[in-house]
Amino acid sequence: MLKYLLSSVAERHLLEAVHEELYASNLYKHISNQCQRLGLFGAAKFFKNESKEELKHYQLLADYINDRGGVAEIPEIMRANADVRGLEDALKASYEAECNLERKYAEWYSTLHPVDPVTAQFLLQFLELQRRSVGEIGDLLSRLKLIEGDRAAILLMDKELGE
Ligand SMILES: [Fe+2]
Repeated sequence: MLKYLLSSVAERHLLEAVHEELYASNLYKHISNQCQRLGLFGAAKFFKNESKEELKHYQLLADYINDRGGVAEIPEIMRANADVRGLEDALKASYEAECNLERKYAEWYSTLHPVDPVTAQFLLQFLELQRRSVGEIGDLLSRLKLIEGDRAAILLMDKELGE
């Protein structure tokens, strides 16, 4: 007989994480669509790919919940509506979202570490993923700051993002 191995607090945080990853995937779809509309085709491709990455993160969570005897239900997803009028808005929306999620994973990890070390250890990979995403998007924002509105340079950066 299979056991149910998640505490109620672990279950709650994992389901919150499921929501956050699905939301992030939708947010990146939204940002990608806005970039496409603005003619930022490289950024549109970059964010479309980010959307796919978030679904992989979702799947890691769903598989873990299953391994522990539960089922990851699909929650109602909050609407994604970042106002994107250029590359800076797109990157800032992404940076905010990644920083927020890093903070949430850090909180969940800290809460679970003393009571459910198995789930806490599982969550460590998400802290690492968030750290990398925050760093990557932060680097892109720094690069964009150097450009200071130069349209030709923005087009060049957009092209790089699509490669
Ligand atoms: Fe993610």
